[in-house]
Amino acid sequence: MKIDAPLFESLVGQYQQRVDAALDRWLPPADVNPMRLHQAMRYAVLAPGKRVRPVLVYATATALGIDLDRVDGAACAVEIIHAYSLIHDDLPAMDDDDLRRGRPTCHREFDEATAILAGDALQALAFYIISHDPEMTTDASARLQMIENLSLFSGSRGMAGGQAIDLAAVGKSLNIAELETMHIHKTGALIRTCVQLAALSTDNLGKTQFQALDSYAKCIGLSFQVQDDILDVTGDTSTLGKTQGADSARDKPTFPSVIGLEASQEKALELHHNALQTLSIFGEEADILRYISAWFVERRN
Ligand code: IPE
Ligand code: IPE
Ligand code: MG
Ligand code: MG
Ligand code: MG
Repeated sequence: MKIDAPLFESLVGQYQQRVDAALDRWLPPADVNPMRLHQAMRYAVLAPGKRVRPVLVYATATALGIDLDRVDGAACAVEIIHAYSLIHDDLPAMDDDDLRRGRPTCHREFDEATAILAGDALQALAFYIISHDPEMTTDASARLQMIENLSLFSGSRGMAGGQAIDLAAVGKSLNIAELETMHIHKTGALIRTCVQLAALSTDNLGKTQFQALDSYAKCIGLSFQVQDDILDVTGDTSTLGKTQGADSARDKPTFPSVIGLEASQEKALELHHNALQTLSIFGEEADILRYISAWFVERRN
């Protein structure tokens, strides 16, 4: 597929709508007991996020010629894990934030106990979806690999581990290597999962292609968090949908605080160029992934 900027934008819109519809189907109805918990789960997940992780799942599937029906489950699972991580990230015991996706954070809208439980239940729901969704695959071993992949990358050796490093780093000065390790875990790991889950949905992929895609995912996983750190400095609260300046207010080590704003912007661009390099074995079918890498470093929210 020949892709240009307007087509990319339109595909992103289609993927966002597609995952929103699928999420709505998987989430428990708000009028079913325990209603308050179900309302909180729906509130957090269906809030207007960018859906970059599901978009990346669909884009990888598109690049590999995989039918999108086969990756709806993966797209929902990663967005649901992400939503759970945001609910917990915003809690008073963690980043203590009041605003998320332009709305009060889950514990502000509901209460802390409900927010904790909504996160717990969403994590379980994500694993229910990838173990259950009949469209994903008929190959039980491929499905097991997907479950293993999501567990590893979201657990203590992935996202949750990164969050632990993040909390331990408050008020400390990290060097660049330590900062990268933190970001690779807290944000990069789940972004790698997006690409890997899509890649695991086909049995036509060679090892070299899989590894190239994984290297791509590593680059954009880090660039995404570098840009998140940059936007905490350069963004504004209404565009971000979360409070600008929250990192510095809480004395969090970030790319701008450690290497400065300009060097952080250069770092993000360097990672974008590295991401393009990793895709050099692919032709124009991977252009959609090239556009995603650009989006990650050019985004304003
Ligand atoms: C915010 O993620 C948390 C990070 C890992 C940087 P997003 O920037 O993808 O947030 P939403 O989903 O669009 O709200
Ligand atoms: C969040 O990182 C990473 C996860 C939720 C796993 P941040 O704390 O930087 O995310 P924001 O800035 O609150 O969205
Ligand atoms: Mg945080
Ligand atoms: Mg936070
Ligand atoms: Mg942040």
